[in-house]
Amino acid sequence: MLLAVALIVIPVLVLFACKRWTDAFYGLGSNRLLGFRTPLLLIAHPDDECMFFAPTILGLLRNELPLSVLCCSTGNYYNQGEIRKTELIRSCAVLGIPSSNVTVIDHRDLPDDPMAQWDPHLLSSLILRHIHEKNIDMVITFDEGGVSGHANHVSLYKAIRSLHCAQKLPEGCSILLLESVNVLRKYLSVLDLPLSWLCPQDVLYVLPEKQYQQAKEAMTCHQSQLLWFRHLYLLFSRYMVINSLRFLFRANEPDTKEKSQ
Ligand SMILES: *[C@@H]1O[C@H](CO)[C@@H](O)[C@H](O)[C@H]1NC(C)=O
Ligand SMILES: [Zn+2]
Repeated sequence: MLLAVALIVIPVLVLFACKRWTDAFYGLGSNRLLGFRTPLLLIAHPDDECMFFAPTILGLLRNELPLSVLCCSTGNYYNQGEIRKTELIRSCAVLGIPSSNVTVIDHRDLPDDPMAQWDPHLLSSLILRHIHEKNIDMVITFDEGGVSGHANHVSLYKAIRSLHCAQKLPEGCSILLLESVNVLRKYLSVLDLPLSWLCPQDVLYVLPEKQYQQAKEAMTCHQSQLLWFRHLYLLFSRYMVINSLRFLFRANEPDTKEKSQ
């Protein structure tokens, strides 16, 4: 009995202590991003922004970087595309990104489907067009693991990497990738902080308690997605609190010294 109580109480206490602890953290290495003028968050579905990228978004905005979002599908898997588009706009607003900075691609050949490989040529050309139109100087997106391994997430990585390798990106356009961690670490929530901190990364964002609430609030905008297991996700996912990112490519060092003073 005592053991059972201890088994419950101790993790809760540790979790609580770590939560407090994160308040002391800000973006580690985030000064590396200060020189960028037009960062773009590239996602596959409405809800990727808050399920996976909330610490990054809130960290960038905290550093007063302007941010825009390009979402490559409406999340139409269950025919809820229209609803989900509005949910994305509302969620972004809660996070602090105005609707004028959110673009959703609604293309019938880019379906929200875990089994679908998106046509790399179509996807790359749509992304590239957006990068040119908006003068983007940094793209932030998934890495080769796509966090959840969703084929659409991985397609974004492949598209941006191929654009980079084919030297089609405008000169000076950097690429920053959200690191995928193994499934054990993925559900450690804030307890993964020591490991995240020890592993090499270029930027590490950890959400303070108050902003974690903001991220959760953004998630509640995605009503159509809030099935019971999503609530568990909100509680245990590391990505609600911690984002570690690495540059795939970094163009000329922006003049960070000048800006950070
Ligand atoms: C939205 O985009 C505009 C134009 O790029 C930018 O000036 C502004 O700072 C962005 N807003 C936010 C909250 O990032
Ligand atoms: Zn997704």
